[in-house]
Amino acid sequence: MKHKGGADLRGQARAPLFEALARYLGQDKAAFHTPGHKQGAGIDPDWLALVGRGIFRMDLTVLPETDCLFQPTGPIRQAQLLAARAYGADRSYFLVGGSTGGNLTMLMGVLFPGDKVIVPRHTHKSVIAGLIMTGALPVYVHPELAQGWDLILNVCPESIRRAIAENPGARAVFISSPTYHGVCCDLESIVKTSHLGDRIVMVDQAHGPHLRFHPSLPASAMESGADICVESSHKIISALTQAAMLHMRGPNIDVRDLESVLLLTQTTSPSYLLMASLDLARRQMALRGREMLDRAINLAQEIRRAVNRTRGLYCLDAPDVAPFGFDPAKLTVFVDGLGLTGYQASRILNRKYGVQAEMADWDHVAFIISIADDAGSRDRLIGALRGLARDHRPGKGKRRHKVKFPSNYPPMSMTPRDAYFSPYRTVPLKQAAGEIPTEFITVYPPGIPVVVPGERITAEAVEYVTAMRRLGAIIVSPMTRGSDHIRVVA
Ligand SMILES: Cc1ncc(COP(=O)(O)O)c(C=O)c1O
Repeated sequence: MKHKGGADLRGQARAPLFEALARYLGQDKAAFHTPGHKQGAGIDPDWLALVGRGIFRMDLTVLPETDCLFQPTGPIRQAQLLAARAYGADRSYFLVGGSTGGNLTMLMGVLFPGDKVIVPRHTHKSVIAGLIMTGALPVYVHPELAQGWDLILNVCPESIRRAIAENPGARAVFISSPTYHGVCCDLESIVKTSHLGDRIVMVDQAHGPHLRFHPSLPASAMESGADICVESSHKIISALTQAAMLHMRGPNIDVRDLESVLLLTQTTSPSYLLMASLDLARRQMALRGREMLDRAINLAQEIRRAVNRTRGLYCLDAPDVAPFGFDPAKLTVFVDGLGLTGYQASRILNRKYGVQAEMADWDHVAFIISIADDAGSRDRLIGALRGLARDHRPGKGKRRHKVKFPSNYPPMSMTPRDAYFSPYRTVPLKQAAGEIPTEFITVYPPGIPVVVPGERITAEAVEYVTAMRRLGAIIVSPMTRGSDHIRVVA
């Protein structure tokens, strides 16, 4: 497999969809179609006064000049072809519902009810949602944990090999790589093992839209030989929020099945702003990705070194996660040495220093460095973290907030689909250990479900959710609507 051959630069200086929209704006057309604001004319005046009319003029719809996402023959087709070339895929598809929609599409495009699929247990909840929709049977694989930190790393090839040996009939292997913290699997080994039995390899690469474009980053899913992947182009690179892509390569994916699922999972009114942002983000990465990512990686390494010279703080680094791969642009800063939880530190950084982190956990705060950062933002983050450490001197025995992410999961009692659609009764969470849930509990971020339909709730999970709620984590479940009850199979 050829790694980091760089994007195929043929035609990459073009942005066909963006150019088509720009051309359309130059024409004097009277709009008698959606969206109802008619290129900004009907937008609330307060909004217009704040941001101007420009962006609204481009909020167009399916027109002969702008093409149709579901039967592309013009600029959208050309834009997707250029994306496929840049990403080393056979085909690429624009997504307007994030990697969430992409994961649903991937699972529905590949799996049939009753198919076995090997899935890491630390997967995003959209993957479990896909299992509910398909009726596939998950074989959960447990991720490795970091030595010395309460941090989920990722799954190793050996765990996948074992799961395949125990489930030789599994039709597919699903991998999430990189994680929220930038920890990447040895995808090439996993793909080799999985392909031996003609299993399809699907990758949730939500956090890796940039991997392809820099030689020092871990290999992307397409470079590693995966059959299909999704990525959130709105993370790290410059597409707008919700914009994502799906790539496929090789003979194992039935393109007709995949394209018919895209008709079901995508809105019939995809945003042309989102799609144009995908076209431009691809062009930017293909032409300038290496240089822009060089800068982002260097800035991240400078921040990492400064943090690791600051008493009471520690920033995760590549050797800490070896032999897993690592994306250094993810900064995971442990603050428990200051006697603070990640939530407390994140609040202080926001209120006192005007620095907004990506996420917090009980013992760390995570920051994303992207192609948009510069020396100014680097210095601001370093200054804020040093200030935090000055205000909260490290002290003996201050590691008092320890809350462990549950690591023991019982075998699945029912498929996610059967549990989700089962008759239910409602019980208080604190009495729910041993019950089979019909719904999720997810701690946000990173959005990994602690409780999933079909898998018995453990006392450890109840304890974790209760503790995380007390610490100020966002708990996404029906319980957030003011109840502390959960639905379990009757
Ligand atoms: C691993 C993983 N997969 C999928 C998603 C969903 O991505 P999106 O927000 O683009 O829908 C996320 C979101 O953070 C994620 O962390």
